[in-house]
Amino acid sequence: MSIASLGYVGFEVSDAGAWKIFMEDFLGLMRGAEDNEQVSYRMDERAARVFLLHGSRDDVALVGLEAPSVTGFEAIKASLAARGVSFTQGDEDLKAKRHVADLIRLKDPMGLDVEIYYGPTELTNRPFNSPAGVSSFCTGDQGAGHVVLASEDIDAVRGFYVDALGFRLSDTIGMKLAPDFSITLEFYHCNPRHHTLALAGMPAPKRLHHFMVEMASLDDVGFALDRMAACGVRQRTTLGKHTNDQMVSFYAETPSGFEVEVGCAGIPVHDETWRVTHHEAASMWGHKPVGA
Ligand SMILES: [Fe+2]
Repeated sequence: MSIASLGYVGFEVSDAGAWKIFMEDFLGLMRGAEDNEQVSYRMDERAARVFLLHGSRDDVALVGLEAPSVTGFEAIKASLAARGVSFTQGDEDLKAKRHVADLIRLKDPMGLDVEIYYGPTELTNRPFNSPAGVSSFCTGDQGAGHVVLASEDIDAVRGFYVDALGFRLSDTIGMKLAPDFSITLEFYHCNPRHHTLALAGMPAPKRLHHFMVEMASLDDVGFALDRMAACGVRQRTTLGKHTNDQMVSFYAETPSGFEVEVGCAGIPVHDETWRVTHHEAASMWGHKPVGA
């Protein structure tokens, strides 16, 4: 049994004030429940899609992976146990904080907290309303978005997500980062989103290179581009179109230093017909560095 989607992601952040502006005024996520440890943000009917945890790490702190069902949740636990992968049961306090019926916690080979859960809370009685006027975010069966992780031990990380959790290769991109340094980025899906997870086998100051939120239309992305200056957000790339998922997007710097990709119009992957390919560039056009 495989993971159904990236249900939520959590960042440990040091500058709560800057992140509030970033999340609400720039990205247009809706503030949800909060306590003295965390603030939750909504992108849709779910109670939480992003958690900001107060701390000094300024990196991704956790990923929440959704099981497709109660039986799927039990099957994933059995599969992990059979592989000798240890996990702990989430207590009532953690279930309430994450707004889920049940969850387990484990660490991936990078030391990142992975939470596998079922039964997320939906707040259809309190409809999503973007404070920045984003028409909607593309979530549903494609989950919250995608994360791109960097690790020197990519074999171990790949083994965890592919062999133990059922992520499937979508394609690869070869990137020449310097005249004598090239890497191959690996893109993995667990539902029709082209990639929920991408892996870069390289040393990096943070585990997270970027996370991606997909908006409903090109106009939503354009309005977000226009909001950057007023929100004091630093643009990292121009608008561009990726070669593999064909996402039209731009990159901006979060108050924690890692990046966010704001995009639209990514193509879906269907396992019955999809063929794994390789690309020699990350972008068809655009995505040029800004202010580098
Ligand atoms: Fe991306």
